[in-house]
Amino acid sequence: MRIGIKAGNPVKSRSQCVVIGLYENSLLSPTAKLLDRASKGYIRKVINRGDLTGKIGQTITLHDVRGINAARVMLVGLGNPESADASKYIQIVNATIAALKRIPVKNTLCCLLEAEAGAKDLTWKTRRLVEQFNAAVYRFTDMKGDAANDANGASSDGASSNGDTSKLESVELQLTDKNDRDTVLAAIGDANAVAAGIAFAKDLGNTPGNLCTPGFLAEKAQDLAKSYESLTTKILDEKEMEKLGMGALLSVGKGSEQASKLIVIQHKGAKPKDQPHVLVGKGITFDSGGISLKPAGAMAGMIYDMCGAASVFGAMNTVAELDLPINVIGVIAAAENMPSGQASRPGDIVKSMSGQTIEILNTDAEGRLVLSDALTYIDKFNPATVIDIATLTGACITALGSHPSAIYAHDDELAGNINQAGDETYDRVWRMPLWDEYQKQISSAFADMANVGGPEAGSITAACFLSRFTKKYRWAHLDIAGTAFKGTGPQKGSTGRPVPLLTQYLMDRANDAAQN
Ligand code: BES
Ligand code: MN
Ligand code: ZN
Repeated sequence: MRIGIKAGNPVKSRSQCVVIGLYENSLLSPTAKLLDRASKGYIRKVINRGDLTGKIGQTITLHDVRGINAARVMLVGLGNPESADASKYIQIVNATIAALKRIPVKNTLCCLLEAEAGAKDLTWKTRRLVEQFNAAVYRFTDMKGDAANDANGASSDGASSNGDTSKLESVELQLTDKNDRDTVLAAIGDANAVAAGIAFAKDLGNTPGNLCTPGFLAEKAQDLAKSYESLTTKILDEKEMEKLGMGALLSVGKGSEQASKLIVIQHKGAKPKDQPHVLVGKGITFDSGGISLKPAGAMAGMIYDMCGAASVFGAMNTVAELDLPINVIGVIAAAENMPSGQASRPGDIVKSMSGQTIEILNTDAEGRLVLSDALTYIDKFNPATVIDIATLTGACITALGSHPSAIYAHDDELAGNINQAGDETYDRVWRMPLWDEYQKQISSAFADMANVGGPEAGSITAACFLSRFTKKYRWAHLDIAGTAFKGTGPQKGSTGRPVPLLTQYLMDRANDAAQN
């Protein structure tokens, strides 16, 4: 998606469509007034008929409006300016994009930067517009035949490739003030870098398990590092992990034909001695459940069990693209969870790199096993902060649904920083308890801990498990089981979350670093 700016008179725009806003009670936005005047009151006349009252979600498209160069004028409801806020602005943008995708326009002039968004500023509005427009044109067509690629577009949510015939290629954002030019251009640059990270995460997430294996992820890391000077990678194979004593991680891949990998991607943006921020992603390229085999219905969608890893890839891509002046390390614990004669059995006891032993009561609770060793491994980087990201539990979906990711942390400041990044990008999190009282649910008869904690509070006991491997640094855990992907049918798709949150968190840390 090409996104640019425009400072001229929108009445003279040669774009195929001019998008303008209308508040409730038929209050025209400044640009709407301008166009209304040029059309000699025609726009006002249409509004007075009552077809559009200015409610959020409403759109109508007028054609060949006299006095206006563009072939179409799209009127978009902006709601009540007094109660405008971030969430409503996002609804407005989404309604606009949905309407634009239904008509055959290739380019549009969008005059929504002037719309109220409560406390949110121009930078924020620009970033939302650019990121939403990019999301809207995302398609995963790598696996479609050539003919289908030409004929079909993406689904309405941009996730897959069925039925959508949108032709949208470029958008110009109308400036209200020429002096805003630098601010808006900088925000477009940041947003494009974030959008590229989101698209990368979506592509990896959507790539099916027969292709997206641990080895495939390792290759992707090497490719990424080749594209950016600031990035280096290191891939640990099973032999090297054995030497390090990673018995928990290795137990997960034992039933698979695919070799497990520990992937390290390092961005050097600050002095070598500056403590890095570390992201750790769950990279189960397919989760069958192992010997504790999932029923068929629950197995659909388990190609997405590497979305934590995908979000780390996406974030590292954005960090490198923006060349953030901080050190960041992404670590991916990649394995495939399959049943076989070699696979772990329920009841097996393994020794983790930390020295703690784990009784594997359910081989389907594999994410925490691979993460535990990755989280022990990264201690050697002396991290400033650590965030792990995982499609960890179905219980998280039961608890929170698909709107927020769950966040767990003992460190209030870290949790606060992540929460803030989530609010800013609307890639939100909700904090869950990590109380000691839950820890006893994962005690084991024969080992230091069990890998499951019974039917109650499954997302919390999974976090409790991880907390036993993260005592040496500032750590937070994101359970993204409900937010990373949607659906399993023709509309399925990776959402790219939580790349917006992670990249915002790191941009904020880079800002902090610049201030000190
Ligand atoms: N990858 C799943 C969790 C999951 C489920 C993610 C649905 C996204 C959608 C995880 O490995 C798993 O199987 N967890 C088990 C844990 C249980 C055995 C304690 C679960 O949630 O059922
Ligand atoms: Mn599982
Ligand atoms: Zn899993």
